[in-house]
Amino acid sequence: MACALPHHPLFHFLLLFLLPFSIVARTNGTVAVGTSITANNKDTPWLSPSGVFAFGFKPLQEKNLFLLSIWYYKIPDQTIFWYGHDGVPVSIGSKLGLTVDRGLVLSDPQGKELWNSQLILNNNVAHGFMNDTGNFVPVRNDSVNLWESFKNPTDTMLPTQIMESNGDGNLVLNTRDIPSNFAYDAYYNGSTSDYFNSSNFGYRVIFDDKGVMYILRKNNKIFYIKPQGMLFPTIEYFHRATLDFDGVFTQYYHPKTFNSSTKWTHIWSQLDNICVDIGGGEGSEACGFNSICRLNDNQRPDCKCPPGYSLFDSNNTYGSCKPNFTQSCLEDDINFAEDIYDFETLINTDWPTFDYEHFSPAIEAQCKMSCINDCFCAVAILGEGSYWKKKLPLSNGREDNVVNRHAFLKFRKRDPRTLPSPLVPETKKNPGTLILVGSVLLGSSMFINFVLIGAICQGFFLIHHKKSIKSCHGNHSAVETNLRCFAYEQLEGRLNTLVENNMEALNDWKRLERFLMVAIWCIQEDPSLRPTMRKVT
Ligand SMILES: *[C@@H]1O[C@H](CO)[C@@H](O)[C@H](O)[C@H]1NC(C)=O
Ligand SMILES: *[C@@H]1O[C@H](CO)[C@@H](O)[C@H](O)[C@H]1NC(C)=O
Ligand SMILES: *[C@@H]1O[C@H](CO)[C@@H](O)[C@H](O)[C@H]1NC(C)=O
Ligand SMILES: *[C@@H]1O[C@H](CO)[C@@H](O)[C@H](O)[C@H]1NC(C)=O
Ligand SMILES: *[C@@H]1O[C@H](CO)[C@@H](O)[C@H](O)[C@H]1NC(C)=O
Ligand SMILES: *[C@@H]1O[C@H](CO)[C@@H](O)[C@H](O)[C@H]1NC(C)=O
Ligand SMILES: *[C@@H]1O[C@H](CO)[C@@H](O)[C@H](O)[C@H]1NC(C)=O
Ligand SMILES: *[C@@H]1O[C@H](CO)[C@@H](O)[C@H](O)[C@H]1NC(C)=O
Repeated sequence: MACALPHHPLFHFLLLFLLPFSIVARTNGTVAVGTSITANNKDTPWLSPSGVFAFGFKPLQEKNLFLLSIWYYKIPDQTIFWYGHDGVPVSIGSKLGLTVDRGLVLSDPQGKELWNSQLILNNNVAHGFMNDTGNFVPVRNDSVNLWESFKNPTDTMLPTQIMESNGDGNLVLNTRDIPSNFAYDAYYNGSTSDYFNSSNFGYRVIFDDKGVMYILRKNNKIFYIKPQGMLFPTIEYFHRATLDFDGVFTQYYHPKTFNSSTKWTHIWSQLDNICVDIGGGEGSEACGFNSICRLNDNQRPDCKCPPGYSLFDSNNTYGSCKPNFTQSCLEDDINFAEDIYDFETLINTDWPTFDYEHFSPAIEAQCKMSCINDCFCAVAILGEGSYWKKKLPLSNGREDNVVNRHAFLKFRKRDPRTLPSPLVPETKKNPGTLILVGSVLLGSSMFINFVLIGAICQGFFLIHHKKSIKSCHGNHSAVETNLRCFAYEQLEGRLNTLVENNMEALNDWKRLERFLMVAIWCIQEDPSLRPTMRKVT
């Protein structure tokens, strides 16, 4: 059994229904074969004997659109708990009829059939019945139910409703891809699977008439989905358990005696913190791609785009976010990365899945430098002494006090075309600083350093090296290899230790890094990628 997470824009406006108060018509709940109702604002829906529930067309906020549904008819919050036609709205003039051969039939204003309740047994509907439990059934003349709305659940279960598994079962919640409907890994499971002893498997989810929800195992033992008392007896309270559009499965109660301000109140949820507890798998999880999930005061997720990002669909705040810039691996973007890109620091924020690089131990400066100089890197995450690099799109973003990590989100602060033309030396700063840094780095006099860097460049124009960078920690025989490895290691993050005590060097961090980049540019394996000596100087 699986509860689908309806991550569909429809569910966002389902909550925003017009709430017409209606006078409850007298009825005995019976619907005669041949009866039909039309989607307009006039036809009375089919009511249960007490008038608590109604089956028919519920007007949506979007003008002239209706949803075929069953809802709580009396309470102010006319809450929908079942819908037909896969939740797709229909236009004004559509019709729902009860037929002998196909049970319920939904057709569009032109009479074309859109949906029907596929009957489980041969066709012979005697009448329909809207039960006071909330279940609608087409019934045969011998009282056999030929179909039940309760057996075709959508996002909600009511007391007395049972959900059957087709075989050995484990109750799971999973996200699905829209529109392919592919189910991703479960973000919750009821843990009633037991591959060693099949009698322990669950096979039914029962929401009993007392409002208690549990899984029944094949050996008739009970697994309570949440340990719970019965503080809200079903005599006095309505209950429902809904898989809300945000992925949280929640049981609510509502007093049967109410006034216009009475609302559904939450009893328990699965999961407690959807932002943090969901995830690990494919898909965007609670919010869209690149978005950040944060639990609000009502224990529901809020999704927000990070700085520099905005909603793809401005009407769907739970959807994905797009960056306001493009990140590229074009030459200018690489050579002037630090002039072009910067970071937004997001505290207690993480996108925990799908890293492409992971380093440990690590500190902030390293983390940022590594990301800014990596044209694939969209965000660097730092925490627990490690850092992780991630590329777009980012999934499963969350912000929470329990998230012990910070995110450094890269954004474009200027266009490379606005930069001064490349390789024009910066004249504002004292070149002495640069050379001093060079001295600290290579650990000898600045003259020797200058000569060395020049020599490395020239040397590498002439010598073809087959050794890969991996060999750095192996055989250090050649002087050139040593230097090359040394220089690479600087870029890979040792800079900080080397210049630790040199405030001046720290102030000139970016120039230092540029300097090293030039050095490494010179010592690339592929001679054709190396700059000419004129460019270097
Ligand atoms: C319900 O009412 C209809 C008429 O509105 C009547 O034909 C039918 O027999 C009634 N059914 C019951 C069970 O009272
Ligand atoms: C309504 O539902 C209850 C509970 O499932 C059932 O006992 C009762 O027979 C149903 N009523 C009718 C008329 O089908
Ligand atoms: C139900 O319908 C069948 C055939 O339509 C008929 O033979 C049977 O007598 C009916 N039973 C009752 C209880 O009305
Ligand atoms: C169910 O969840 C438990 C932990 O909550 C996990 O250990 C187990 O692997 C999960 N089983 C399945 C089938 O996903
Ligand atoms: C399976 O588990 C039940 C308890 O749920 C136990 O009584 C039974 O002996 C077990 N069967 C086997 C073959 O282990
Ligand atoms: C509605 O009922 C609640 C108790 O259920 C009460 O506290 C509240 O004051 C009532 N509000 C109005 C507007 O009557
Ligand atoms: C993109 O977002 C960043 C961060 O919020 C902001 O500094 C920058 O001005 C934005 N750029 C554009 C083109 O809107
Ligand atoms: C958002 O909704 C409004 C009104 O429903 C509509 O006019 C507008 O086009 C929608 N915007 C987008 C981006 O879909």
